[in-house]
Amino acid sequence: MRILLLLITFALSQFLGAQGAQRSAEAEMHRHHSDSSAYIAMLENPERDLYQKPDEVVAALKLEQGEAIADIGAGSGYFAFRFSKAVRDQGKVFAVDINPDMIRHMNRRSRDLGTANVVTILAEEDDPLLPNRSLDRVFICNTWHHIGDQENYLELIKRALKPGGQVIMVDYKKVELPVGPPVHMKIAGSALVAQMERAGFQLLKKHEFLSYQYFFVFSVN
Ligand SMILES: C[S@@+](CC[C@H](N)C(=O)[O-])C[C@H]1O[C@@H](n2cnc3c(N)ncnc32)[C@H](O)[C@@H]1O
Repeated sequence: MRILLLLITFALSQFLGAQGAQRSAEAEMHRHHSDSSAYIAMLENPERDLYQKPDEVVAALKLEQGEAIADIGAGSGYFAFRFSKAVRDQGKVFAVDINPDMIRHMNRRSRDLGTANVVTILAEEDDPLLPNRSLDRVFICNTWHHIGDQENYLELIKRALKPGGQVIMVDYKKVELPVGPPVHMKIAGSALVAQMERAGFQLLKKHEFLSYQYFFVFSVN
């Protein structure tokens, strides 16, 4: 009986501990969402590079000079300004976000760096407002779970892609991790692939070098 009681107490403390950790992760996330400067600092934190490996991600995409790429949910421009260098002056980066503070931050960053090929778009929650048939690639990192009507959003993405264009998705694996949103907000990699296939995309490549995230490349049929 004593052992049973001890086991129940242990299981309860583990459960409450996990609940507490999840609540504090959510509180931290809400703080970041309501304080754009803190959010930007979190996105640009050099410690993030250790697992996000941004330069390796960009290198893996083998972007060519002159390509047009959209970064949906571009945030601080963490990836967008790396894409800007990769596609060179002849290329174009559409940095899409719904948060005006992020857009202002990227505009300031463009001006300060003298970057001419990053075009920011203040989008709507359910529409990236991208021009038709204008893109070689669409890149979405850690943002897909923010999108409401994803089915319709994928149709809008298709409309913006050139024939043979690609969609690249990088997001947190649906497991407990020391970073990222709580598990219940994450989308499993298998569910994302199934969703993309239903929408008419094909999985072209899975990059496996990120430990916390999946990194998929899809082509449009
Ligand atoms: C977790 S951050 C990721 C930023 C960036 N992709 C990165 O990896 O550094 C998510 C970003 O998506 C933006 N966002 C949220 N909902 C969005 C939507 N419906 N359309 C476009 N951007 C959105 C947020 O404002 C935020 O800047």
